[in-house]
Amino acid sequence: MSTSDGPLSGRHIVLGVTGSIACYKALDITSQLVQAGAVVDIAMTASATKFVTPLTFRSLTAREPYVDMWHPHGEFGEAHVELARRADLMLIAPATASAMARLAHGLADDFVSLTALATEAPLLLAPAMDSQMWSHAATQFNRALLEERGAQFIGPAEGRLASGRTGAGRLVEPRAIVDEVRARLGRERGDLRGRTIIVSAGGTREAIDPVRFVGNHSSGKMGRAIAEAARDRGASVVLVTTVAGDAPSAVRVVSVDSADDMSAAIHERVGKADALIMAAAVADYRPADAAQQKIKRGEVGDISIDLVENEDIIAGVSEPNLVKVAFAAETQDLIANAQKKLASKGAKLIVANDVTATDAGFGTDTNRITILDTDGGREDVPLMTKYECAMRILDRVAELLPRAD
Ligand code: CTP
Repeated sequence: MSTSDGPLSGRHIVLGVTGSIACYKALDITSQLVQAGAVVDIAMTASATKFVTPLTFRSLTAREPYVDMWHPHGEFGEAHVELARRADLMLIAPATASAMARLAHGLADDFVSLTALATEAPLLLAPAMDSQMWSHAATQFNRALLEERGAQFIGPAEGRLASGRTGAGRLVEPRAIVDEVRARLGRERGDLRGRTIIVSAGGTREAIDPVRFVGNHSSGKMGRAIAEAARDRGASVVLVTTVAGDAPSAVRVVSVDSADDMSAAIHERVGKADALIMAAAVADYRPADAAQQKIKRGEVGDISIDLVENEDIIAGVSEPNLVKVAFAAETQDLIANAQKKLASKGAKLIVANDVTATDAGFGTDTNRITILDTDGGREDVPLMTKYECAMRILDRVAELLPRAD
């Protein structure tokens, strides 16, 4: 995917960097924002420049960082106003205790606080400091004040701190910060804002005994991409997945194992959902009686496992107005099989893919899909990233959702 069509393409983000050892992570954040297609302007405090140089940021953004308030930036005297006006979002990462105090009091004595004061864009802060400083009454007072004024905090996370102590104060991982930026921009003006979308992902695991299961090759990547794309378009997303370890941030993740677990998690939440997108590879059968203890070799000789049928989750969900999207992973007669499933599952759309292809389907980062609808329509989507495929699927879902009043 080129940056021109990345999830943040066309978005202008001001990244404020204040003086903390975590400044080195701001480089990674910058790189990820740029790779996602955003135009990133850096505002730095003088202390931040002691940890990393403006030159490094300039190399990543191909833009001159804003550091010295008295340096003519082409638009001398108005640089901060220009920057503040252009921003779709301002992120301060790392945000030190001192930066939080300056913002809370409305000071404007460096480029970061100056821009934060001048902008009307959403303000996100990712704090980084020692745990004592974070829990100090002054910092907590400033946090509450800033939240009351609409600022959103990301973290801090718990963990090992530069001081050697362990506690709350670590900068949240760059990928999660970038996810929060994407989610926030989606909620501001995405076409799915206000919608709740349940996405299932991964292959279910049906227990044979406490250590073995019947499973399949689904990696959960397509479902994950749909969850991310729906989040980026402003939806509240519930991702019901068997591969929660790699789940995206700013998405509600429900970790499940078996088809029964997945069914329970979906039935519990589907009443409040606008769409259900079943990208999971749900096992059709499970062992009739999972052994309570590990089956030992030699004790029973050859064994056979009786399988009983699982519930068809998507077919069993019948909420009025719910847009149901099924998937058909096939190895032969792709379109004919998908058409049959579209009808039998009561879905509005079915996404068919040939899992025998090496560049599409299970485990890959790309997919080649065909979307079929109940009016006999067929959309062939050529090979593209799973995120881009997800966007195509969501375009169709958005058309089918009842108008929001
Ligand atoms: N599905 C489901 N519950 C099941 C099995 C499948 O909700 N017990 C959903 C899948 O998540 C997918 C769609 O139904 O969205 C089709 O899944 P697939 O396994 O291809 O279809 P099956 O109905 O199981 O048909 P078959 O295995 O015979 O191809």
